[in-house]
Amino acid sequence: MSAFPQHFLWGAATAAYQVEGGHDVDGKGPSIWDVFAHQPGTTYQGTNGDVAVDHYHRFREDVALMAEQGLQSYRFSLSWPRLFPQGRGEINEAGVKFYSDLIDCLVENNIEPMITLYHWDLPQALQDEGGWENRATAEAFVDYARLCYARFGDRVKLWSTFNETVVFIGHGYITGSHPPSVRDPARAIQACHHVFVAHAAAVKAFRASQVAGTIGFVNVLQTHTPLTHSPADKQAAALADGIWTHWLYDPVLKGEYPAELLAKTQALWNVPQFATGDEALLKENICDFIGLNYYKRETVAANDRQTHLQANHSGERNSGHEFGFKDLFKFVRNPTGVYTDWDWEIYPQGLTEGILQIKARYGDIPLYITENGLGAKDPVIDGEVVDDPRIDYLKIHIDAIEAAMQQGADVRGYYPWSFIDLLSWLNGYQKQYGFVYVDHQNGLARKRKKSFFWYQALIASRGEKR
Ligand code: BG6
Repeated sequence: MSAFPQHFLWGAATAAYQVEGGHDVDGKGPSIWDVFAHQPGTTYQGTNGDVAVDHYHRFREDVALMAEQGLQSYRFSLSWPRLFPQGRGEINEAGVKFYSDLIDCLVENNIEPMITLYHWDLPQALQDEGGWENRATAEAFVDYARLCYARFGDRVKLWSTFNETVVFIGHGYITGSHPPSVRDPARAIQACHHVFVAHAAAVKAFRASQVAGTIGFVNVLQTHTPLTHSPADKQAAALADGIWTHWLYDPVLKGEYPAELLAKTQALWNVPQFATGDEALLKENICDFIGLNYYKRETVAANDRQTHLQANHSGERNSGHEFGFKDLFKFVRNPTGVYTDWDWEIYPQGLTEGILQIKARYGDIPLYITENGLGAKDPVIDGEVVDDPRIDYLKIHIDAIEAAMQQGADVRGYYPWSFIDLLSWLNGYQKQYGFVYVDHQNGLARKRKKSFFWYQALIASRGEKR
């Protein structure tokens, strides 16, 4: 008997910029990713989401594939500039219609929609006014959220506000590899604070709306293991937990920042600056669930020098460099680890451990595993995509979720990343994650992979058949 109950949701996930395409059609405004990816040298071989896998025009075909696979839920994000081309003000009704039709199509096929309001594609018009560093962006976000609740809330019960602050703030404002390409920790902390304010205000607006559903926040779940037993490495791993995890989870699950770190950032840089009412807003609007995106763990060591991020974006092993913050910590290769071609360590126990760490720190908060998957160049044999490594990866991670549930964790759904092959932000279309292959040489034709049928059988058996 598996630990997965009848009501457990077996789903899959995507995000707007990575699948939709239609970047400038039917009144959509540009997002920061549209602008960034058009600048030379920013992404792998100049790839961008202009067309992506054209889900905007082919969503009915994609939903038919989801239904055939037996998906019970589909996590996707809305493109804010498709709904508000200028970020606020005039609504683009064609964009509303697109999402409304998609939602209808899902519901007709008994697939529960899970909406992410923000998966990184900020309207460029708001970036031009300062983006997340400008508090007014948080206000515009709440107006955008209200529109979505009003137009889609009659059919959508599962909502989350933001996807992975550590990535869009960390890369946007610290490593500089995502837009707006800033490298300044103090600016990162203030921008991140505005994201938490936007989140809490959107949770408040959700509860004041007519929507009969729940709202959460999605974070990266990454466990940190010290490289050695030395006190310095242990302290480095604890710091990584504090900065990478507690700083990003505490404000949405406890309504406050971790006190010790807060004292440090305020002494160092005088950030985050709170406006009157922020503390109460965070405290009074704890979200209903947390979404966890788990891919890998990091091995952590003490670090006495600053290194700029140079990640592996080609899929050639060991082509990146180790990365760290001076006097805090660095991420290093685990000498005994098993790694993907993009140098991400495959470590399913980290998912069990991470879930239990969240439970220990935040209590019995409902959890969804909102992303988990293997990025790989899939093997093709006689025209068939034989993605056995993906099946193996997903299977051992489902086992890991089950182990956490057997120890009392309240996990309610699993959304492998991704339903279909899509654009990996900085790694192009060659880093495949999907159950469905997309043939870029043949009009973006869809093709079911081996993993498609494996997951279909797993869902039909409610997790028994792995
Ligand atoms: C998560 C994101 O960080 O990881 C996804 O939410 C992303 O949007 C996924 O695609 C995998 O990362 P990458 O860099 O391999 O595409």
